[in-house]
Amino acid sequence: MPVKKLISSRVSLAPMAGITDYVLRSLIREHSKTCLLTTEMISSEALTQVKETDIVKRDNNHSPISYQLSGHKPKMIADCAEYLQQFADMIDINMGCPVNKVVKGTDGCALMRNVELAEEIVKTVKSQIKIPLSVKFRLGYTFEELNYVEYGQRMQEAGADFITIHGRTRSQMYGGKADWKKIAELKKNVDIPVFANGDVVSIETAEKCLEESNADGIAIGRGVLGDPSLIARIETYLQTGKYLPPPTLEEKIAGMRDYLYREIEFRGEDVGIKFVRKFYPYYINGFSGASRYRGELVLLDNLKDINKMLDEVALQSCKNMLV
Ligand SMILES: Cc1cc2nc3c(=O)[nH]c(=O)nc-3n(C[C@H](O)[C@H](O)[C@H](O)COP(=O)(O)O)c2cc1C
Repeated sequence: MPVKKLISSRVSLAPMAGITDYVLRSLIREHSKTCLLTTEMISSEALTQVKETDIVKRDNNHSPISYQLSGHKPKMIADCAEYLQQFADMIDINMGCPVNKVVKGTDGCALMRNVELAEEIVKTVKSQIKIPLSVKFRLGYTFEELNYVEYGQRMQEAGADFITIHGRTRSQMYGGKADWKKIAELKKNVDIPVFANGDVVSIETAEKCLEESNADGIAIGRGVLGDPSLIARIETYLQTGKYLPPPTLEEKIAGMRDYLYREIEFRGEDVGIKFVRKFYPYYINGFSGASRYRGELVLLDNLKDINKMLDEVALQSCKNMLV
């Protein structure tokens, strides 16, 4: 499928390690039939060692879906990309991860300081796959090294078909605000499509980001936490102008329970329960007593007790709405 078709809905799910797993991708797809899904970053070193991994799992309806690879060895990444073609509609290379452990090994955003290596990666992968290839990077490593325009041009020349750019530098990590206006400069200077990323959490911010960046679309990460319908609501707005409301408190708590059950089915009860703990704050908020409930929920490791607590949470949040 040509890249234009893969991104035609103008909204994609940004990759998030430990978050955009098979379960979350499936949930988002139930709301949006058309957005581009992205896997978590898949380490090319790890995939070279172990091919049988849950991280690559997909359903038939997951297309369009991009698989993201990290690494710094061109041939190794290209071999992994070739292997992933059986699952993927597009391969994405991670050039933006700011985490110390990743950049120390010249992976992720460290590639923005090593443009020749990044070019070699793109060229090698491109020559070995038949599906489109994209890159995801930041504005630069630090504010003194804002090389995103030239970097984007060189990735395009090396063979990239599509860019997602997070409007922060590596040194910002996730602090400060994403600078959507800077992204307009990249968009002006490349011919391939560009998706803007960073801090889009609602229909309003999506509209503002598109206006300021002039990008072809937007990639959404943290905004989907606690609200897997966000991408679909933004797509509906962009396509029809119709404003669908965010989920109510009641819907969020029901969504939390549904998510928990799906993760348990995917990972088994013990691991599933532990895995979802980090997501309670995104679903259980906005009513008095929410933080106390969250504090108690994270201590529970028995499904029966969690269900009882979620019943109580649902009741309490309803009472709150009536007050
Ligand atoms: C927990 C977490 C994990 C992430 N993992 C990845 C990753 O695996 N690959 C990647 O390119 N970006 C990763 N990111 C960055 C996001 O894709 C995105 O660029 C960033 O969160 C900004 O977008 P947002 O404000 O919509 O979340 C991660 C971000 C978070 C918060």
